[in-house]
Amino acid sequence: MLRLAIINGPNLNLLGTREVDIYGAECFESFLEKLKARFPQVILDYFQSNVEGELINKLQSCRKEMEGVIINAAGYSHTSIALGDAIAAISVPVIEVHISNVLAREDYRKTSFIASKCIGSISGLGLEGYALAVQYFLQKH
Ligand code: DQA
Repeated sequence: MLRLAIINGPNLNLLGTREVDIYGAECFESFLEKLKARFPQVILDYFQSNVEGELINKLQSCRKEMEGVIINAAGYSHTSIALGDAIAAISVPVIEVHISNVLAREDYRKTSFIASKCIGSISGLGLEGYALAVQYFLQKH
């Protein structure tokens, strides 16, 4: 079975109540249940943290355990060289996901320190972006 990790960064634990006009009214846990039902042939591991170092530890732990990583590093995407370094340091392919279209928002969201270390990025397609990333890994498998 294909093993994929979904890693969500800061404030994504508040999905469903946080800026619903931008991020929608669904919490990630309920979306994740539907995602698992849609992809029964995939083992989906989920991790969320508001702490940069914990996200780095999780990425490093994916080295031996996962065949792909889907990461929404949230605000750290625009600030964290260390997260970009962690992605570069592991041989596991990583896809960057953003729920909102970061290129259509404030200028400071237009820079990502992780994008160039990932195999690709999905932005602006809502939670469906995570499903598209799973679909990509599955088709490559
Ligand atoms: C986000 C976009 C980021 O700019 C923001 O800091 C987030 C969420 C998104 O999924 O659209 O927290 O990553």
